[in-house]
Amino acid sequence: MTEEHIIKDGADLSRRDFLGTVTAGVAAAGVAAACVPFVSSMNPSSDVLAKATTEIDLSGIAPGEEKTFPWQGKPVFVVHRTPEEIKAMQASNGGKDPEPDSKRVQKPEWLVVIGICTHLGCVPNKTAAGWLCPCHGSVYDNSGRIISGPAPENLHLPPYHFVSENKILIGKA
Ligand code: FES
Repeated sequence: MTEEHIIKDGADLSRRDFLGTVTAGVAAAGVAAACVPFVSSMNPSSDVLAKATTEIDLSGIAPGEEKTFPWQGKPVFVVHRTPEEIKAMQASNGGKDPEPDSKRVQKPEWLVVIGICTHLGCVPNKTAAGWLCPCHGSVYDNSGRIISGPAPENLHLPPYHFVSENKILIGKA
């Protein structure tokens, strides 16, 4: 029995080869189409994305004041630092995890840190000089840098950016 030959893209394919190629192509397209709803179901919905970010109006935080905001289930400390506090923080690199203050703030008057002690995860309390962790006594300065106690690292910085002069969005750098 003679095989029917088909010319495709200049190649001489037998009918069987041609059907095999077409079937494989249709199968691949089917798999790809089946994956679309699956992959798009992995994208976070808009309400989840909304919770992933927290917008903060800074205008209600007076100089010298700290306020705590929830972000992704964590407390975020936002401090409106005074000129004296800024000057003192800029004059030091902190303690056991040295870091210049300029690397920890986007604007010197606003410090934004995750309020979780880097030792075992307690929430530190604000003091005039920074924070004191109630669990094992770690002391952080007004740049959120570890000064003394068992915590190994400075308070972590969340991703954030200024959306306007007086508003920040935490969750997106
Ligand atoms: Fe803060 Fe241990 S958890 S010092």
